[in-house]
Amino acid sequence: MKAVLLAGGLGTRLRPLTLNTPKPIVPIFDRPFLYHQIDLVKRVPDVDEVILSLNYHPQRIQAVVGRGEDAGLPIRYVVEPEPLGTGGAIKFVEPYLEGTTIVFNGDVLTEIDLAALVEHHRARRARATIVLAPVDDPARYGLVETDDDGNVTRFLEKPDPEQITCNTINAGIYVLEPDTFDRIPANTRYSIERRYFPSLVERGDAFAAYIEHGYWLDIGTPAAYRQAHRDILDARCRTRGAMLAGAGKPTVAGDASVAPTARLLAPCFVGPGSTVHPDAEIGPHAVLGGGSVIESAASVRDTVIWPESVIGAGATVDGAIVGRRCRIGEHARIAPGLVLGDDSTLTPYTRFE
Ligand code: GDD
Ligand code: MG
Repeated sequence: MKAVLLAGGLGTRLRPLTLNTPKPIVPIFDRPFLYHQIDLVKRVPDVDEVILSLNYHPQRIQAVVGRGEDAGLPIRYVVEPEPLGTGGAIKFVEPYLEGTTIVFNGDVLTEIDLAALVEHHRARRARATIVLAPVDDPARYGLVETDDDGNVTRFLEKPDPEQITCNTINAGIYVLEPDTFDRIPANTRYSIERRYFPSLVERGDAFAAYIEHGYWLDIGTPAAYRQAHRDILDARCRTRGAMLAGAGKPTVAGDASVAPTARLLAPCFVGPGSTVHPDAEIGPHAVLGGGSVIESAASVRDTVIWPESVIGAGATVDGAIVGRRCRIGEHARIAPGLVLGDDSTLTPYTRFE
């Protein structure tokens, strides 16, 4: 059995972070995001290969993930010549599939039990099964209505406010039978959400819903990306990162160096090879990427810092995302919501008000 990760989107909502780093490999703590998804797939005994469906910066993803040695499952890369949309991308990988297939959006952080999902699909003898998550704001997602027997009766991508009839949305995780791909034209842009799912309902194909009540988050916006780190630090999401964070204690990688007078306010994460100078304050909810340097008396809270960035002495960083190799000048004050791309430099005393 194959698992397909749809990982070819441009990640526009996460720019400027995704200009150099495609969304599937943005780090969650010290690990590329898609490893969290592959961890889930590994728990399905039948899956023998992960197919990464790509088109945006595929070589960068390949350079990080390789043949899957670290991921623990063989990886096949399938690169579209041009973006074909979610449905076109699935059609494009069809030659590599063998029967029942798991398909995943490349940006959802969850703890779903995929083996139970596949079992549900088989028990229902479904042609397609879709995972639903309950959310407060369905307008940003695909709205899915179901009947009392758990069959999908309507799929509406990005509904207008007046079209919202329920709170269950498409969680971006499916089990599909490839013989239903007959309706998808080859080498053509095609949306699985706007065309394939509605067509299943129209044709009366057995289309089952599987409601996931556990943790679920689409990490595709800066706010959501920070939320993912907060949730792992708070153990609301129990992925490997959460285990690293320990029971409310600060987590410090073995080879990081933290001055005795620095204050680590739990929960927080100090990545490998980082240096925290005297009187600096880290946390709560600060994540320092590998090799970062926090100079004396700087303060970092509710912020994710990517590797090798330097926060100057006395600077205050709150509610931000700081890309790789950035330099925040001394005594700069960063207000919530700032997202700095790789290699940004802020002059000392910069302030946002
Ligand atoms: N290979 C390939 N080619 N992948 C693509 C393409 C493409 O042309 N376009 C998008 N993708 C991938 C993205 O990389 C992402 O992993 C996934 O498909 C979904 O695209 P997003 O751009 O993140 O869509 P969304 O978040 O607005 O909406 C989707 O996800 C929601 C759940 O998070 C939809 O599936 C919604 O129905 C769903 O509710
Ligand atoms: Mg998304």
